[in-house]
Amino acid sequence: LAPKDLAGHTVLVTAGPTREELDPVRFISNYSSGKMGYALAKSAAQRGARVILVSGPVSMAAPYGVELVNVNSAKEMREAVLQRAEECTVIIKAAAVADYRPTERSSIKIKKQSDERTINLIKNPDILAELGTLKKRPYLVGFAAETGKLREFGLKKLKEKNADMIVANDVSQPDAGFNVETNRALLLFQGGREVDCQLMSKEALAGEILNHILAELK
Ligand code: C5P
Repeated sequence: LAPKDLAGHTVLVTAGPTREELDPVRFISNYSSGKMGYALAKSAAQRGARVILVSGPVSMAAPYGVELVNVNSAKEMREAVLQRAEECTVIIKAAAVADYRPTERSSIKIKKQSDERTINLIKNPDILAELGTLKKRPYLVGFAAETGKLREFGLKKLKEKNADMIVANDVSQPDAGFNVETNRALLLFQGGREVDCQLMSKEALAGEILNHILAELK
């Protein structure tokens, strides 16, 4: 039986990809499966936290006992998260939010035309960075999915987004990152502390991340 060491905490986890629609039948997205975020939500709930899971479209059922909020786009995810941020003691942003969305969304299906076409994109709001500016802010954990230079890019995100912890992982490895059962990560904290987590299941890594959050909150 898991210790109820997160009792009294409200943990919001975002998970999965976002979908940025071009028209009623097409969208831009990414390969995020939601597995890491769902493992975090499940583990936090088992450890006694109230868990709000804000999820992009994934093919998994929500873990037992969590409050599921389904969203599609980055803008919808932002609304869902900001609305609930004040209730939270911890927010973990495991979602792979699309950095850009199509500038325009057609309300009718776009027809086939010339051989070449251009899609214009506009930057999405950075949800984690926005949370980082809140006056009374929860403990903030971000993810950095990179294909190299983990420490460098992770530290940059820690600073720029004013997060408390960044979980940096290399998604170019076949046994880590998107859509696999295992992960390895470099945990980077404000103040310069680092923890290297070797290859383990996403469940085990979720447990490690929650242990560190709990230790930091004390
Ligand atoms: O996309 P990026 O590498 O900047 O993502 C780093 C962290 O910021 C992740 O935790 C991600 O969920 C979050 N993020 C966000 N809103 C965005 C882009 C990223 O909250 N528009």
